[in-house]
Amino acid sequence: MAGSVLHGADAAVQEDETMAENEMLSLSEMGDIKSDFDYLSGELEKNHRIDQNLYLDYDVKRGLRDANGKGVLTGLTEVSDIVQYDLVDGMQIPCDGRLYYQGINVVDLIRGLEGRRFGFEETTFLLLFGRLPKEEEFHRFLNVCEGLAELGARFVRDVVMKASNGNLMNALQRCVLTLYTYDDDPDNCSAENVLRQSMELITKLPLIAVYSYHSYLHFRKDEALVIRNPKKGLSTAENILQMLRPDGAYTELEAKVLDIALILHADHGGGNNSTFTTHVVSSSGTDTYSSVAASIGSLKGPRHGGANLKVQEMFDNLFANISDLENEDEIETYLQKILDKKVFDGSGLIYGVGHAVYTLSDPREVILKDYAKKLAAEKGMMREFAFYDRVERIAIRLITSQRRIHKGVCANVDFYSGFVYGMLGIPKELFTPLFAIARISGWSAHRLEEIMNDDKIVRPAFKYVGRHVEYVPMEERV
Ligand SMILES: CC(C)(COP(=O)(O)OP(=O)(O)OC[C@H]1O[C@@H](n2cnc3c(N)ncnc32)[C@H](O)[C@@H]1OP(=O)(O)O)[C@@H](O)C(=O)NCCC(=O)NCCS
Repeated sequence: MAGSVLHGADAAVQEDETMAENEMLSLSEMGDIKSDFDYLSGELEKNHRIDQNLYLDYDVKRGLRDANGKGVLTGLTEVSDIVQYDLVDGMQIPCDGRLYYQGINVVDLIRGLEGRRFGFEETTFLLLFGRLPKEEEFHRFLNVCEGLAELGARFVRDVVMKASNGNLMNALQRCVLTLYTYDDDPDNCSAENVLRQSMELITKLPLIAVYSYHSYLHFRKDEALVIRNPKKGLSTAENILQMLRPDGAYTELEAKVLDIALILHADHGGGNNSTFTTHVVSSSGTDTYSSVAASIGSLKGPRHGGANLKVQEMFDNLFANISDLENEDEIETYLQKILDKKVFDGSGLIYGVGHAVYTLSDPREVILKDYAKKLAAEKGMMREFAFYDRVERIAIRLITSQRRIHKGVCANVDFYSGFVYGMLGIPKELFTPLFAIARISGWSAHRLEEIMNDDKIVRPAFKYVGRHVEYVPMEERV
């Protein structure tokens, strides 16, 4: 479809949006069914609590972890590796984290891309095919990607622009699921067909995310509707920026930083929540669209990819409540209140800190922090950068001293990603979708690996700890 800029919301679509708003009742809108609902909610509270001691009694690997927080071994992969310990004289010593894609350290991968534009695309090739591309085959790969990076006008109008919402992860899921019906061979799980579907989704997801954002801005915020086509010859990062910005302009540094962010988010082993979801769902033999939609749902969670949004909200909260950004005592007092569940979202979590695997440092955070500093210097935001740095230091100290930490705590990739995206002018609605745009490369590689190697449906055990009781007829129940 041709690039277009429309002003004012289309009446038919707006009516549709209003209907969608009335479709679901919030708790405060339940009216005369609310008291019955409250009763049911009270019953739920009474009957769904499991004695926490039973988890210890039965040695349940909660979160599929052992008592030290280490993940239970559930699979093998060659796609990526995370190193958080060095083996010294047979002893595991915590070390600075290292991340490898198909055996290559991401630090070296990024260094090797110096002066080139297609870092994320090369990373995707590496993850999918297991090795770095030679020049000629990389051109073939880019050629296929460019051929697939399109969304028809009907799909944009009939699917992307419907039921827009500020949380675009839901829009991504919906669009991915709907693409199933646009595929003539959706259920064919041969490696060749899954590769085709994967490349379709990898190349279409940036368009879906950006168009969903523009639809949200238009239909919910009454802004101009901007739908710009991707340009052939541009990298994913460049296309995201040119499709996103009303004037389509961006600087080389901006595209470079976004490209690096995409590379750093592209994969993270088989055990991270959304990739494990890929394995679980793929093992049932279901289609690619169902698998990717499920992984997007997992990534949305604030303990996973959604943490980057939470970090941003937390920093908005910190900026609003800490009067002197250089006063470490004031910062510590406020962070302590977060840990004590007294302020912010009441979860007791300082977002962007802690990781299920890394010990001393998360290499992705180290690289992004470096770029955050460079960008901050260029954009006159060193005061904010210094504040982030202070919060990072103090939060790590507080969490280490107050939580049951077995392996060390460090800031994770999400700590600086939102700050970087903010400096790139990327709206917060797109923070987690950007993670999905990158991670779908990893999900695809893992799905292909699962399909080509494993032939066992994932099916762990749950111990029943309830009682078996007699069925009582309705009229005899007390
Ligand atoms: C990522 C995360 C879920 C890992 O959790 P985990 O694997 O249980 O990590 P650990 O084993 O080191 O945690 C040990 C304890 O410290 C707590 N902890 C870890 N990170 C914390 C944080 N940022 N704030 C407060 N408490 C934290 C955990 O809740 C756990 O407490 P518990 O024993 O009472 O359950 C956790 O660090 C977290 O929720 N961080 C904030 C969200 C975030 O940034 N997520 C993005 C991850 S890339």
